[in-house]
Formats: sequence, structure tokens, C-alpha cells
Amino acid sequence: MSSKPTGVPHHIAIVMDGNGRWATRRFLPRVAGHKQGVESLRRCVKACVDRGVGVLTVFAFSSENWNRPVEEVTGLMELMVGALGREVPKLRADGVQLHFVGERGGLSEKMVASLVQAEASTALNTRMVLNICFNYGGRWDIARAAAQLALRGEPLTEASLDRAMALAHVPDPDLFIRTGGEQRLSNFLLWQSAYAELFFSDKLWPEFDEAALDEAIGVFQTRERRFGKTSAQLNAGLHERQTA
Ligand code: IPE
Ligand code: IPE
Ligand code: MG
Repeated sequence: MSSKPTGVPHHIAIVMDGNGRWATRRFLPRVAGHKQGVESLRRCVKACVDRGVGVLTVFAFSSENWNRPVEEVTGLMELMVGALGREVPKLRADGVQLHFVGERGGLSEKMVASLVQAEASTALNTRMVLNICFNYGGRWDIARAAAQLALRGEPLTEASLDRAMALAHVPDPDLFIRTGGEQRLSNFLLWQSAYAELFFSDKLWPEFDEAALDEAIGVFQTRERRFGKTSAQLNAGLHERQTA
């Protein structure tokens, strides 16, 4: 008897890392890697929709990425606005509900307007939620939630914080993938990943294809998610459910 998850993870979170190295290895400017990264994201979104994933949350630009050279930051901003213009009609047709998660204060008016427009035009979609974390940091998320509660004079509890966090509209991630070979969180979903299964891929993000996604899902399905319990407890629970 097994208590291993058998289906696809409901919520997958991805740190899409390795675009710069992908470009550098080809003697291309780093921004060419980010461009290829957008292609890889398009493929990944489609693959997740096809596999029945309920929520996909991706890390596109961190609070700390402002520290990169100005031409790379500008390139990333332009790429985002351009990609939205092209991709939103397709996402809309594919039933994807878009959410932008992150601090909008530091973004240009033009950018904020296109984020708001993209969210509004996909708001009624129900097939899959796509959260794009942009100008996002896990610490920003926790601090902002706490500040909001304090302002409203509400008590700070796990439940109240949970409701005030930027991903309150979806359940916590089940599978946390990082591409690019690094094994760190880099300030992504610090609160929400408390019980996510971690999967690190050596593939650079532009190379992360359907087969790589299926490998990650396959590994997830071999994990035993105990949430603090023992294996025996999980198996007994499963047995009870099966004989009930
Ligand atoms: C991830 O790829 C995308 C962003 C951070 C915007 P990187 O740009 O970090 O790629 P590497 O890690 O330098 O290869
Ligand atoms: C994390 O990647 C951020 C995104 C993928 C958007 P980084 O490349 O910024 O992470 P570090 O700096 O290597 O930790
Ligand atoms: Mg990186």
C-alpha cells in the first residue's frame, strides 16, 4: 500500500533560471536568453494545461534582479510588455487566468496598465491559473501581508497572514522546480513552499521542455508527502479510506 501522490501536482511553481548562461554559451547577449526563456514559458504553459495542472506559478523577475546591469533590466521590462501583447489573446483562448504577483510600485505606468489589462481580459477563464511573479520577493510578500494586517488592526496569525499573502487566491504549491542547476530558493515563495516537494534540474530554462516537465512530475509522484506524520499513519489512513 502506498501513500504516494499518483496524479499530477495541482500547483507547480518554477524558478525559471539559466537564461543568461544559455545565451552566453552561444555568444549571444543575455537578453537573447530571456527571449528564448519566453518561448520556453509558452511551451511550459501549454504542457501544464494539457496535463491538467490547476495552477502554474513562475518567477520572472525578483526584487533583487533590479541590481543587474541597466540594459538587462530594461531589456527584461520591454520583453515583458511585448510578450503580453502577443501572448494574452492565446492565453485567453486556452482558458488560462493570468495573475501578476509582485510590487507594482516600481514598475512603469505603461507596464502596470498592460498587467491590469491582461488580468482583466483573462479573469473569467477557469482552465488553469498562471501566476507570473514579477518584481516579487518572498520577504516582500510576508512583510507586506503583515503590514496590511497591522494597518487594519487585525491579529497576526498563520491563518490571517495566509489570507493576506499575494497567492491567497490559490492553494500552496505541491511541486517547486528550479532549473539552471542552482539549489536555492532565491527568495521565491518562502511562506507558501513550506511543504512543497523540491525538484532541481540542471537544464537551463530555455532547454526545459515537455520531457523535462514530465520527469519532474514523475519524481514528484515517487515522493511520500508526510506533512509531519509517519509513513505508517499515512498508510493506515489510506487503508481506512479503501475499506470504508
Ligand atoms: C533567469 O535567468 C531569469 C531572470 C532572473 C530574469 P538568469 O538571467 O538568472 O540566467 P543565469 O542564471 O544568469 O544563467
Ligand atoms: C531567481 O534567479 C529569479 C528568477 C528566476 C526570476 P536569479 O538568477 O536571480 O537567482 P540567484 O541570483 O542566482 O540566486
Ligand atoms: Mg540566474
